[in-house]
Amino acid sequence: MTRLSAVTIAVLALTPAYARDIRASKVFLDARQVEKGYDYVIVGGGTAGLTVADRLTEDGKTTVLVVEFGVLSDASSITTVAGGFSGMGDSRYMYDINSVPQINLRNRTTRVMAGKVVGGSSAVNAMMTVRGTAEDYDRWGSFFSSNSHWSWKGLLPYFQRALNFVPPNPDVTASANITYDTSFWGNTSGVYAAWPSYQFPSTTAQMNAFSGIPGVPFVRDSGSGEPGVYWYPTFMDPKTVLRSYAKTGHYENVKTRTNYHVITSSKVTKIILDGTTATGVTFVAAPASGQPAANAPQTTVSARKEVILAAGAVHSPQILQVSGIGPRSVLTAAKITTVVDLPGVGQNFQDHPIAQGSFQFGRFPVKPSADEARSNRTFATWSSQVWAANRTGPNSIATGNAAAWLSFPVISTRSAQLADDLAAQNHAAYLPTGTDATVVAGYKAQMLSYAAALRGNKTAFFNNVLSGGSASGITVDLHPLSRGTVNINPADPVNREPLVDYRALANPLDVAIITDILKFTRRYYMNNPATKDWSPRELSPGANTQTDAQWATYITDTLSPSEFHPAGTCAMMPRELGGVVDEELKVYGVKNLRVVDASIFPTLPGANTCQTVYAVAEKAADLIRYGVPT
Ligand SMILES: Cc1cc2nc3c(=O)[nH]c(=O)nc-3n(C[C@H](O)[C@H](O)[C@H](O)COP(=O)(O)OP(=O)(O)OC[C@H]3O[C@@H](n4cnc5c(N)ncnc54)[C@H](O)[C@@H]3O)c2cc1C
Ligand SMILES: *[C@@H]1O[C@H](CO)[C@@H](O)[C@H](O)[C@H]1NC(C)=O
Ligand SMILES: *[C@@H]1O[C@H](CO)[C@@H](O)[C@H](O)[C@H]1NC(C)=O
Ligand SMILES: *[C@@H]1O[C@H](CO)[C@@H](O)[C@H](O)[C@H]1NC(C)=O
Ligand SMILES: *[C@@H]1O[C@H](CO)[C@@H](O)[C@H](O)[C@H]1NC(C)=O
Ligand SMILES: *[C@@H]1O[C@H](CO)[C@@H](O)[C@H](O)[C@H]1NC(C)=O
Ligand SMILES: *[C@@H]1O[C@H](CO)[C@@H](O)[C@H](O)[C@H]1NC(C)=O
Repeated sequence: MTRLSAVTIAVLALTPAYARDIRASKVFLDARQVEKGYDYVIVGGGTAGLTVADRLTEDGKTTVLVVEFGVLSDASSITTVAGGFSGMGDSRYMYDINSVPQINLRNRTTRVMAGKVVGGSSAVNAMMTVRGTAEDYDRWGSFFSSNSHWSWKGLLPYFQRALNFVPPNPDVTASANITYDTSFWGNTSGVYAAWPSYQFPSTTAQMNAFSGIPGVPFVRDSGSGEPGVYWYPTFMDPKTVLRSYAKTGHYENVKTRTNYHVITSSKVTKIILDGTTATGVTFVAAPASGQPAANAPQTTVSARKEVILAAGAVHSPQILQVSGIGPRSVLTAAKITTVVDLPGVGQNFQDHPIAQGSFQFGRFPVKPSADEARSNRTFATWSSQVWAANRTGPNSIATGNAAAWLSFPVISTRSAQLADDLAAQNHAAYLPTGTDATVVAGYKAQMLSYAAALRGNKTAFFNNVLSGGSASGITVDLHPLSRGTVNINPADPVNREPLVDYRALANPLDVAIITDILKFTRRYYMNNPATKDWSPRELSPGANTQTDAQWATYITDTLSPSEFHPAGTCAMMPRELGGVVDEELKVYGVKNLRVVDASIFPTLPGANTCQTVYAVAEKAADLIRYGVPT
C-alpha cells in the first residue's frame, strides 16, 4: 500500500482489533495513524464538529483530529431524500437512549434521538432548512450586554456562509407560488439548501388558507428573521438530489487536505486536564452497536492549542462532567473529583415539545395532493418513473417545504395575561430542588425575556408543518418554558448513557401555552372560512375537549417532549447566570477548551435547529482563528 497516495486524509475506519494493533505497536507510520498531537482535537464529527474542522484546516497548515463515535457511511438510508425519515429510522446510526420517566406525562419515557455516524444528526435529520427569528438571536446576546456580537446582525453573515442556497426551478416556483429572497443567503458553502423539483398544489392551498385568519403574516423568505407563513428549502444537493450534510459539505469535499484527520468508531471518554488547562483527550474503540467494554484500552491524543467539544447537547455535558467539570453535587454523587465547580453543565436542557393534535381534510380543491402518492396508482407510477429517469418529481420532497411559524398574539387573545403570569412566577420553583442560585438567576432572565416575547410579534411560538396531505402536520411549541437536565448516570458515568430528563411541563404555564397552540390548530382546520369547503374533521382531541382542564388532561396524555432538537446543556450565558461557556464559547474556569454545538444555545430558536448549529459553528471557527470581532 502506498503511503500518502491520493487519499491523504486519515480516516481510520478501524475495526477495534486493528485499532489496538496500531496503537499498541505504533509501527504503521502512514497517514492512517493518529499522530501524538494536533493543534486542535475536536470531540464529535457531527454537524458542528466537521464544520469547525473544515474551516480550521482551510489554511492547509493547522492540524486537526476529529474523534467520532460512529462510522463513515454511505448508506442509502442516510442519503435518500424522499419522505425525510429514512435516516432516523436506521438504528445503526442512532444512539440507543431513552429519557427518564416524565413525571408530568404519566411517567412516559421518550426516545432520545441523536445521530451516531460521521455527520452526526445532520446525517439523520428530516432536512428541514429553517432558522429562527431575529429576536431569537438578539436574545442570546442580551444575556451579556446590549451590544453583544451574538445577535441577528452578528450571525447573519454566518448563516450566509453556512449554506449554499440554490433557488427552486422556475416552473415549480411559478406553479406553487414559492417566494424567496437570495439576499438572506450565500452560495459558497459545501452544504446545500435546495428545493425539490415538484410541489403538491395542495401544499400551496394549505398555505393560502392561513389568509382566512386575520393577522397572520406571509413572509417572503424563510431566512429573513421574521415569523409568519413561508416556504423553506431542504438540506439537499440539487445535482445529486441526495442529502447534503456535514459529511458531504465539510469533509468529503476537502478530504485531500493532509492536515485534516478523522478517526471513526472511537468514543472520547475524558478531556485530559493539566490543572485547569485542557491538553488532550482519551478515547477507546467503539463497537458498531452499544457501548465500549468498560476495560477497553485507552488511547491518548494531545491538543497543542485547544480541545473543542462538539459531541452534541446530549453528550457534551456528559464529557465535561466525567472530566470533573460540572455541578459539584452531581460529580460527587458519581464519585468524580471536581476540578471546576460549574453548576450549569447539564442544566438548562431544552427541546421542542410536539403537541399531538390530529385533523383531516375530506377533500382538497386542488389535486394532486400528497395523499395521491399513496392512494393513486397512476400517480405513484408516474412518480417512480420520473424519479428513475431524472431524479425529479414527488420523490425529491423530504418532509415538505412550507409551514407556519407564528407569534403568540397572532394565535391567542391572552398573551398579555400569560406574559404577566410568567414574569410574576417564582421561577426557582420550576427547577429541580437544589439547583444552584446562578442557574436559577439565568432561568429567571430567560423567562423575563420570554414574557416580553409573548407580548410581541417577533418571536414565534406556534409551528405547524404543511405536508400537502389531508392529515394534519405536527404542531410544535417553539419556546417551551420548562427546563430539563442531562446528567451523568452515577452508577457508571463513563460507560452508560447520561440520564436525560426533559422535565416536560415542569413549568405549568407550558400547559396554557400548548393549549392555545392546539386551539389555534383547531381554529385553522375547523373554524376557518378558507378551509370550510375541504370537509375538515377533528380526529383528536375531539369536540369533547373544550375546557382548560380537559385540554390539560389531553396534553398530559399525549405530549411528546422532543422534536429531536436537544439544546442548552452547556449554555452560553454569563457565569453568574449559570453559564457554561462565555461569548467566545470558552468553558469558564478552564483554559484551551471550547464547546461548539447545540448545547451552547442559551435558548432554543423558534425553528428546527440544524441551520443554527451550522451558523454557530461557522462563527466559532472565526472566533477560534481570528478572535472576537471588533
Ligand atoms: C431524527 C432527527 C431529526 C431532525 N430533524 C431536523 C430537521 O429536519 N431540521 C433541522 O434543522 N434540525 C433537525 N434536527 C436537529 C439537528 O439535526 C441537530 O440540532 C443538529 O444536527 C445537532 O448538531 P450538533 O453538532 O449539536 O450535534 P450532532 O450533529 O449530533 O453531532 C454530535 C456528534 O458527536 C458524536 N459523539 C457523541 N459523543 C461522543 C463521544 N463520547 N466521542 C466521540 N464522538 C461522540 C456523535 O456521534 C455525533 O456525530 C433533527 C435531529 C434528529 C436527531
Ligand atoms: C410516576 O413515578 C413516580 C416515581 O416512581 C411515582 O411516585 C408516581 O406515582 C408515578 N406516577 C404515575 C402517574 O404513575
Ligand atoms: C399565486 O399567486 C397569485 C397572485 O397572488 C394568485 O392569483 C394565484 O391564485 C396563486 N396561485 C396559487 C396556486 O395559489
Ligand atoms: C453567488 O452570489 C453572488 C453574490 O450575491 C452572485 O454575484 C453570484 O452570481 C452567485 N453565484 C451563483 C453561482 O449563484
Ligand atoms: C401582534 O399582531 C396581532 C395580530 O396581527 C395584533 O393584533 C397586535 O396588535 C400585534 N401586537 C404588537 C405588539 O405588535
Ligand atoms: C390519479 O392520478 C392521475 C395522474 O396524476 C390523475 O390524472 C387522476 O385524476 C388521479 N385519480 C384520482 C382518482 O384522483
Ligand atoms: C427526463 O428528462 C428529459 C429531459 O428533460 C425528458 O425529455 C424526459 O421526458 C424525462 N423523463 C421522464 C420519465 O419524465
